Amino acid sequence: MPLELGARAALAFNSGMAAIMTALLAFLQPGDAVVYTIPIYGGTQTLVEKFLASWGVRGIAVRAGNHAEMQAAVRNTERLKVVLVETPANPTLVMTSIQECANLAAERTPRPLVMVDNTMLGPAFQHPLKRGADMVLYSATKYLSGSSDFIGGVVLAKDPALIQAMHLKRSLFGNILQPDECWMLTQRLPTVLLRMNKASKNAQRIAERLAANPKIQRVIYPTLFTDSEQRRIRTEQCDYPGAMFSIDLHGGKPAAFDFLRRLKLAYMAVSLGGVETLVCHPKTTTHSGFTDAQFAENGITDGLVRVSVGIEDWRDLLTDFEQALKQV
Ligand SMILES: Cc1ncc(COP(=O)(O)O)c(C=O)c1O
Repeated sequence: MPLELGARAALAFNSGMAAIMTALLAFLQPGDAVVYTIPIYGGTQTLVEKFLASWGVRGIAVRAGNHAEMQAAVRNTERLKVVLVETPANPTLVMTSIQECANLAAERTPRPLVMVDNTMLGPAFQHPLKRGADMVLYSATKYLSGSSDFIGGVVLAKDPALIQAMHLKRSLFGNILQPDECWMLTQRLPTVLLRMNKASKNAQRIAERLAANPKIQRVIYPTLFTDSEQRRIRTEQCDYPGAMFSIDLHGGKPAAFDFLRRLKLAYMAVSLGGVETLVCHPKTTTHSGFTDAQFAENGITDGLVRVSVGIEDWRDLLTDFEQALKQV
């Protein structure tokens, strides 16, 4: 059984951004359009909104999880070639239904390709190719390699012809993953499901307990979703909730920074998906390029801290979070 269910061909790249860039440049020409969900990884957003726009490719942003906006964009955009979905969104974990995007794409002739950045929940817990997507994109820097010591990217597809079309572009761009790094990644892949399962169980135990902590306003985690539409998508689309959660602390930025500084086990770093727990303050790091309107629209507050839970003992992690919160 392939790790990515439904995949019949794949290509490895020397970063997640190399994979995403090559996928988009292989299937978009000047004058074409790409519909994409926001929030999306900052590099992808800059690629679409700055770089591709300057080459005459139109990008139409749709808010993650907003079916009406997605429907309007897919139905009304001329020369639509790609629908690019990142789900769950980072750091708010808002989910977009892959199946519904694929159904909308299927209404169009020619049918646009549906690409899903599956870095956050794949390959363990979310299977876009089984839900109508054409291609799956990964930053292998995260869970696939799993130790925050590797940079790579992967694209997989149901149809080997799509991968063949990208193969030529990868040769042109020279952004292939080096042989020794392919070997490293191959060594890590057999444990990706084990690592993700353990990290997801840890995250669920910790997130659900922190939800009752008086220093925290809100814990954002799939099992704690309150919106009925988001709960429906989660149940249909995700096998397990995954290892990422965000907490919004009372007391804004000073409280968030205080909390981060007092942690003893979790490392302060902006990556995710490693066996070690990583924490960061999205507003001043991963999403610092956002405008105030984008912060407000995406719920990225001063007190928000993103946590990528690792495979340590969850009790040690919970104790660490609780002692840091107590001192805030
Ligand atoms: C969801 C997602 N996609 C793509 C990327 C880009 O990957 P890389 O850092 O391997 O270029 C990242 C990096 O953080 C990411 O989080």
